[in-house]
Amino acid sequence: MDKTAFKAYYDKQRKLVDGFLAARMEKKGISSVDEAMAYSLLAGGKRLRPVILMATAEALGQKGYNYLPMACGLEMIHTYSLIHDDLPCMDDDDYRRGRLTNHKVYGEAMALLAGDGLLTLAFEVMLEQKNVPPSALIQAVRETAMCAGNFGMVGGQALDLTYADRAVNAEELRKMHQGKTGALFIAAVRGGAVLAGASSEQLLALTKYADLLGLAFQITDDILDVTGTAAELGKPIGSDAKNHKSTYVSLYGLEAAEKLAEKTCEEALSCLDSFDEGADPLRHITQMLCNKRS
Ligand code: IPE
Ligand code: IPE
Ligand code: MG
Ligand code: MG
Ligand code: MG
Repeated sequence: MDKTAFKAYYDKQRKLVDGFLAARMEKKGISSVDEAMAYSLLAGGKRLRPVILMATAEALGQKGYNYLPMACGLEMIHTYSLIHDDLPCMDDDDYRRGRLTNHKVYGEAMALLAGDGLLTLAFEVMLEQKNVPPSALIQAVRETAMCAGNFGMVGGQALDLTYADRAVNAEELRKMHQGKTGALFIAAVRGGAVLAGASSEQLLALTKYADLLGLAFQITDDILDVTGTAAELGKPIGSDAKNHKSTYVSLYGLEAAEKLAEKTCEEALSCLDSFDEGADPLRHITQMLCNKRS
């Protein structure tokens, strides 16, 4: 797969995700919280986690689009995490995905509920996944719950709060990044792998891959908070400094953080060595994150 073919592949997968999410949000609940949920969910975004979930299934010889419900459920969890992350009591940011943040449009209380609604709907949608062994679906959904909650993203976000305004060490920072960002990458990769019937050796290699990719992704996010532009990112820069957050840039400095992101990406890529060309989309996604974001 060359670069042009990959670009077309990524666009196609992203459109599949966008289409599934838009169609699913047509089914309305009983209140206006649906509008607030759809506002953030259908605002674009790179759709990285669902595309990675589907690309992982492809690395194992399955068709990624067969796993759209599972993939899109994960995107709902991710979007909820962004709505809550932007709230005044968290990072207090005004823009996300190129538009005003949820609470700026709907108010804090409704934004809180939009996040709750998306998190809950995610589990309904994931369990609508068809044509997989029930035991695999149970495992994938259970693992996703663990990755999203206090063992994963929520735990990492809590560390992020407690690590603000104080010096942290390398181990603490890694643990925080693994939680707040790495865990949903692990959910994406392991979700795709478990549903596609991965062997235990394949699962092991893919889990290591996901952990490193998530870490590299968050290090790069920390870098872009300093070096990026709001127009390019669709969210404000300087948010971490404003909130006195502990980041890879604040601990190591810009240059060392860039080197670390690059090294971590290379390590992630090497975890895919034992996979055939079916893993090319995953390889390209990894390279895309490394080249474009660091
Ligand atoms: C932003 O994630 C939050 C982090 C974990 C750094 P993304 O950069 O994937 O955001 P979207 O989904 O494209 O908006
Ligand atoms: C990760 O951290 C966010 C989540 C886990 C939701 P950040 O706070 O750095 O994410 P951005 O920079 O606001 O997207
Ligand atoms: Mg944050
Ligand atoms: Mg933030
Ligand atoms: Mg950030």
